[in-house]
Amino acid sequence: MAATVLRGVRSADGTVGDLAFDKGRLIDPADAGRGARRIDAAGLMVLPGLVDLHTHLREPGREDAETVRTGTLAAARGGYTACFAMPNTDPVADTAEAVRRLAALGRRDGAAEVIPVGAITYGLAGRETTDFQRLHEAAGVTVFSDDGRCVRDAAVMRAAFQAVRRFGGVLAQHSQDDDLAGPRACCGSPARAERLGLPEWPAVAESAIVARDVQLAQDSGGALHVCHVSTAESVEILRWAKARGLPVTAEATPHHLLLGAAAVETLDTVYKVNPPLRDDEDAEALRAGLADGAIDAVATDHAPHAPADKALPFPEARPGMIGLEQSLAAVMETMILTGRLSWPALVQRMSAAPARIGGAADRQGRRLAVGEPAAFVLIDPTRRTLVNREDSLSKSRNNPYHGLDLPDPVVLTCWRGQLTYDGLAAA
Ligand code: DOR
Repeated sequence: MAATVLRGVRSADGTVGDLAFDKGRLIDPADAGRGARRIDAAGLMVLPGLVDLHTHLREPGREDAETVRTGTLAAARGGYTACFAMPNTDPVADTAEAVRRLAALGRRDGAAEVIPVGAITYGLAGRETTDFQRLHEAAGVTVFSDDGRCVRDAAVMRAAFQAVRRFGGVLAQHSQDDDLAGPRACCGSPARAERLGLPEWPAVAESAIVARDVQLAQDSGGALHVCHVSTAESVEILRWAKARGLPVTAEATPHHLLLGAAAVETLDTVYKVNPPLRDDEDAEALRAGLADGAIDAVATDHAPHAPADKALPFPEARPGMIGLEQSLAAVMETMILTGRLSWPALVQRMSAAPARIGGAADRQGRRLAVGEPAAFVLIDPTRRTLVNREDSLSKSRNNPYHGLDLPDPVVLTCWRGQLTYDGLAAA
């Protein structure tokens, strides 16, 4: 195949020039040759491929909601070139066999790199830790999580920190104290919980676990990654941990950055998510934390669900919302268009940092320089759209951005030198 040249494209740092790639690598545009495909990219911008530390692909087990194929197509549509696939599948990704199978599925069906996340405990049951070293050797797993559930037992968590530390692994905790936030907890706004008669999911149920785990990371020297931070208090604790140089990182989701608990007043279960949407002060603290680095990364927590799992009263419906396709839009809307984050900083939060945290920085989240992998997203930062859930490439329709006027930046996505999303061809 001939080389491709994007002509007159702007990079995150503002320089304008040509970007060329051939056979999966970025090349010097002068070497592209006369047969090269040339795309006029004037006015467009190119960013390194986005990396999602937190994707639920649902395969194996719930292929009616999502598959590796549909989930990664949605990822590519959102500008992503890699997804860390969460292990709360059926069966759970808690054995070498399971993570190997998922990695193979990713190689076969993936429109983005699929990087398995291993479970911290067998069956996500919170008792017996998995064989981290074996999972690491079987499929290069470095991130471990019981996501969807919190590892409740501090001694189990401590042993897990000590074990993953040996090979540079990281524990991605779903911080939720089950004694404080019971199984029906679903409303993250105390006043609204009272008014709507919904069981409250108190902020302290998250921050108490974040504080505990920061202490365990300090004690063990093992790396903690805090999933989907949702409260102002958690951000304060992260700031404290970072000021002390502890091995602690954290992510915020696009929905916690953009949406608030007011949406829950509709009682539409598309807005039910775990941790829940919260009051404006919390969303504001997340945006401040993402700007100053207390929060390292944006991660989608893309959580597709079949209609029947959402067609239940609010406390009973499954938590989770899809997010891969509107993640960049939500970050642009809250952080770029408000002047809170520069484009180079956005690249850090959505590409370089997640690749580094997940141990994939040898091939993802890299600078766009000659010789590097052709993994990038071409965007039009000025384009907007009214989001329509029917336009999604995901199998599921639980899209909380439906009906909102948001940026619609992604023009095309390239991974391994292939166009994994081609909005020019689609147009
Ligand atoms: O809302 C959520 N949905 N939060 C989680 O932690 C798990 C996820 C899921 O798997 O559906």
